[in-house]
Formats: sequence, structure tokens, C-alpha cells
Amino acid sequence: MPTKRSSNNCTMNIKSLAIGRLSTKNNVFVAPLAGFSDFAFRNICYTLGAGLCFTEMVSVKGLTYGGQGTKELLKTTDAEYVKAVQLFGDDPDIFVKAVKLTELDKFDLIDVNMGCPVPKVFNNGEGSALLLKPDLAEAIVSKLAKAGKTVSVKMRLGVERGQNVAVELGKRLEGAGAKLLTLHARAKCDYYSGEPDYAECERLKNAVKIPVIFNGGIFTASDADMAMEKSGADGVMLARGALRTPWLINEILKTPLPDKRELITRHFDMICDDRGERAACTYFRKQMALYLKNVRGAKKLKEKVFVALTKKEYHDVIDEAFSLNE
Ligand SMILES: Cc1cc2nc3c(=O)[nH]c(=O)nc-3n(C[C@H](O)[C@H](O)[C@H](O)COP(=O)(O)O)c2cc1C
Repeated sequence: MPTKRSSNNCTMNIKSLAIGRLSTKNNVFVAPLAGFSDFAFRNICYTLGAGLCFTEMVSVKGLTYGGQGTKELLKTTDAEYVKAVQLFGDDPDIFVKAVKLTELDKFDLIDVNMGCPVPKVFNNGEGSALLLKPDLAEAIVSKLAKAGKTVSVKMRLGVERGQNVAVELGKRLEGAGAKLLTLHARAKCDYYSGEPDYAECERLKNAVKIPVIFNGGIFTASDADMAMEKSGADGVMLARGALRTPWLINEILKTPLPDKRELITRHFDMICDDRGERAACTYFRKQMALYLKNVRGAKKLKEKVFVALTKKEYHDVIDEAFSLNE
């Protein structure tokens, strides 16, 4: 599948990481992304060479109530040589109940969401609200670890700007048994905008012995270099950058770039096989809009995608977009 050599001066030190007993092929990770990081997207990222990819956040309450929609999110493929699920909730016992479900047996790593800023999550005491409840946050990690799970946490700097808790909380979470910390180096109040705080990530890195992954604002290979250099982190986690251009993984790893047309067609076809043609056409619109973001003629191509109802119509748009632009 790979065709062209990636040409850039990326200097990031690519290395394997140990997460408890697990080991990743490299330190270029892809984030949990609600509405996007489904089995097909993760399959794409793993085949491009990502070291670790996460499911989108899944509610432990939803899982234990047996919701079918929630369980849909747990689909995986063989490309996932390490399977990582991200869970959110606020009750340590429900977390433990959830990870004991047979549907979760296949997951090697349980990531706890301590960063989600969305009001319906935060106001429920979940996601980034846990940053304000270190005892509870610690209890969740501790109980999961005692249940025999390899646990990681994805968190933010804090809730309000200037009120950073990540370093203190990170130390406690390590003590409770977390084997990896990812820092989205922005405050909850900043959602997804603003310059990430590299220095705070460096403080976290220096405060713990487990690997620390930097997340926030990595859209190019040089962003990854800068993040690694300024934060001293053990690796990077790509989020919106990977959604728009998953081949950013290759640019950072300095591996051959994929044929974009083939890659996007394969991504779409996996969704078709799973959901059926008609449903896939609707479901894939938002991902396709991201793929088309920086493509010449994007406006017209997006209009075509938004009325496409067959596999052929999609394939035609992909062919038009990615043969024109190669
Ligand atoms: C559409 C979307 C969905 C997201 N879903 C999740 C999620 O399920 N769990 C999570 O921890 N973070 C989630 N995030 C946050 C990202 O994982 C990441 O922390 C954030 O986008 C910052 O990285 P970036 O600046 O490189 O995009 C989401 C972000 C976006 C844009």
C-alpha cells in the first residue's frame, strides 16, 4: 500500500514504550475521538504504523446497563496488536463492573477519561470533573489496577486556566497503579483551542516514572518535534491532525506515505461492510469532510458527498479528490 517516501526533517526520537506488561511498537499514538475513532479508523491508523490507538470514550454506566449502542463502540480488528479502550464514569465500582464484562476481555489497556470538557459529562462528575476530585480519581485507577487491568489515564492541565492539577494528580495516579499518563496540555475551560502548555507536561514527566504522552495541537511532523523537545515527553498523541491527515503518522515515523485514494476508499469500504451501503454513506460524511478539508475544489466535492447515497458515488468523489491532488 505505501507508495512514496515521506520527505521531511522530522527528528522525533521514535522508540518503543513499555506500558506495564504491554509494549508498543513506537511512541506515536492516536487519540480517543468520539464519533470518529471507531474500529475502521483505528484499523487505518494501525496499518499506517501507529504505536497505539484508543476507542472513543465509552460510558461505564452504558456498558453495565447493557446498551447496544455502547457495545457497538467496542468493535475491534486484528490490526490492533494492542487493544485500548477508553472509559468514562465517576464510580469506581461501576468501572470495575464494566471491565469484568466479557465484551471487555479482549482489551489489553483500560484508559480512564479525565479530560472530557463537554457539559453533560462534566456536570455528571465525569471526564474532566475528576480533576477536581483526586481521591475519587485515585480510587478509580486503584480499583481497576487491583482488578488486574493495565490502566492509563488521559487528563488535562486542570479545569480553570492557571489552576493546574496535572502534576499532583499524576503522581497520585501513578501511585494508584496507572502505567501511562497522557496529558492534553490545555485546561478544561479552553476546550480544544489555545497554545498547549509544554512546560507543565515537562513538570509532569519529571514528577513520575511511568511514560508521559504529550497531546495537543500536533498537526505536522514539526509540531511533533516541537512538542517532544519542549515537553520532554515519551511520545505524542495525535488527535485532530490524524483525523484530517492520518498519514501524519508516516510523516512522523518517516515511513512511506500511503496512496491516499486507496487508503480513504479502504476506510469507507470497511464502514460499508459493517453498516451497509446506505447507512455508511451518511455515517462517513463527517470523516469525508475532514479528508477533503485541504483538497482543491473541496466545496464542490463536499456537496457531492453530502448527497451521495451509494458506494459508487463515494468512490467517484474519492477518485476525483485524490487523483487531482496527488
Ligand atoms: C471530535 C473530537 C472527539 C473527541 N473525543 C474524545 C474522547 O472520546 N476521549 C478523549 O479523551 N478525548 C477526546 N477528544 C480530545 C482529543 O483526544 C484530544 O485530546 C484533543 O483534540 C486535543 O488534541 P489536538 O489539539 O491534537 O486535536 C476529542 C476531540 C475531538 C475534536
